[in-house]
Amino acid sequence: MQLDRDATYSSVLVREFDSVTPENAMKWGPVEPEKGTFNWAEADAIVAFAQAHGMKVRGHTLVWHNQLPDWLNSGTFTPAQLSAILKSHITTEVGRYAGKIYAWDVVNEVFNEDGTWRDTIWYRAFGDKFVADAFRWAHEADPQAKLYINDYNTDLANPKSDALLALVKSLKAQGVPIDGVGFQAHFDLAVDSLGDMAANLKRFTDLGVDVAITELDARIPMPADKTALAKQADFYKEAASACVSLPRCVGITVWGFTDKYSWVPYSFPSEGAATLLDADFQPKPAYRAFAEALAAAKP
Ligand code: XIL
Repeated sequence: MQLDRDATYSSVLVREFDSVTPENAMKWGPVEPEKGTFNWAEADAIVAFAQAHGMKVRGHTLVWHNQLPDWLNSGTFTPAQLSAILKSHITTEVGRYAGKIYAWDVVNEVFNEDGTWRDTIWYRAFGDKFVADAFRWAHEADPQAKLYINDYNTDLANPKSDALLALVKSLKAQGVPIDGVGFQAHFDLAVDSLGDMAANLKRFTDLGVDVAITELDARIPMPADKTALAKQADFYKEAASACVSLPRCVGITVWGFTDKYSWVPYSFPSEGAATLLDADFQPKPAYRAFAEALAAAKP
């Protein structure tokens, strides 16, 4: 974990941010590698670090189709067994950190790009019912935590964000305890263009939920030249301005803050340079553009 290996990383984290999110340490695979055997060490350390420095913690993530433990992926379970397993996972993890995590990404990435439901272990067993169940169980385990549904490529109006909007509306109508919608905002300069993110997020706040930008980065086909870095700055600025313009946009989380440790080169091998600071922790053009847009939020 960078927190105990890299003093510069830790000091920049404390200097620049007031909230932390574990990138992987709270996912199901890392926390329960064998059924009934838990490994909380890294997640606990991140929460303790945050508390020691007066920072908040966003929890990420409880119900997802990726980074599940092998025993769950390759096991055979009846729907009743799977439901009990999911409930126990949510109750155990949310309960462990009750009062210490201000917001949880309860449900992550349930839609395909065309707005149909993603075919996952959860959807196959329960249809869409697992979403409402997950929120109810999380709420029982920590009534104070703000509960979010989170997804990517939902930052602008498109079939996927339309489906998410319809789902949130229906959950609210059923009285499901959902507080917010997370917009990952993983931009890809190779394919994405700037759009009206504020207008899209407003469709959600108009339903009476909070919104947050939860995993902001902007990856660049490598090598990153000056033009690409300037375009990247526009993406960061657009995201910050969108959030600042909406009273119910409660926060922005970046998915890594230095190119030294970004997930991008591992997951998208021809791309990189996706964060605000370079690999030596020096500000990139995006840093200044982002900071200026955020400054507009100050009263
Ligand atoms: C990524 C991590 O950054 C990587 O280290 C890991 O290998 C894969 O997951 N959407 C999410 C995050 O909700 O959990 C993902 O994080 C990035 C995409």
